[in-house]
Amino acid sequence: MAMDSAQELFEHELEDIYYAEHELLDVLDQLAEQTDHEEITRAFEEHREETEGHIDRVEQVFEMIGEPPEEEECEGIQGLVEEHRELADMDPDQDVLDIGNVTAAQKTEHYEIAAYGNLALMADRLGMDEAGDLLHENLEEEEAALEKLKDLTDQYDFETAAA
Ligand SMILES: [Fe+2]
Ligand SMILES: [Fe+2]
Repeated sequence: MAMDSAQELFEHELEDIYYAEHELLDVLDQLAEQTDHEEITRAFEEHREETEGHIDRVEQVFEMIGEPPEEEECEGIQGLVEEHRELADMDPDQDVLDIGNVTAAQKTEHYEIAAYGNLALMADRLGMDEAGDLLHENLEEEEAALEKLKDLTDQYDFETAAA
């Protein structure tokens, strides 16, 4: 089927991120479980809770455009999940895995930031103000989550992990 309008692209991108967010619920559960570092684990748990809010807002956007919430398989996130699985399969030391998990989570945040940044922009430009507001809220939370993860990397004691 040909895609011949920005509105259709918007819907497609919305379905893509809707799938990705559901995947990320599992990913964040797994990361929290695999990690043995209080602050990092808490960051994953907190962002998992926020992720439920993201899904809720995306569902509201579907309702605003009069479409049922549908998931479009998101190969971008699947690739990141697969990449992380490879790391976990290399039998890393716990310290190394902890920080590797933060790296993996940062990559997913970059994906989400690009997705929501463009969805919010399209919503604004297409005159869907309320939908735009919700998408901006998701975008801001993803950006804050990325900053939090970057702080964790900055503060991480790499000397310990190197020992
Ligand atoms: Fe999210
Ligand atoms: Fe996120």
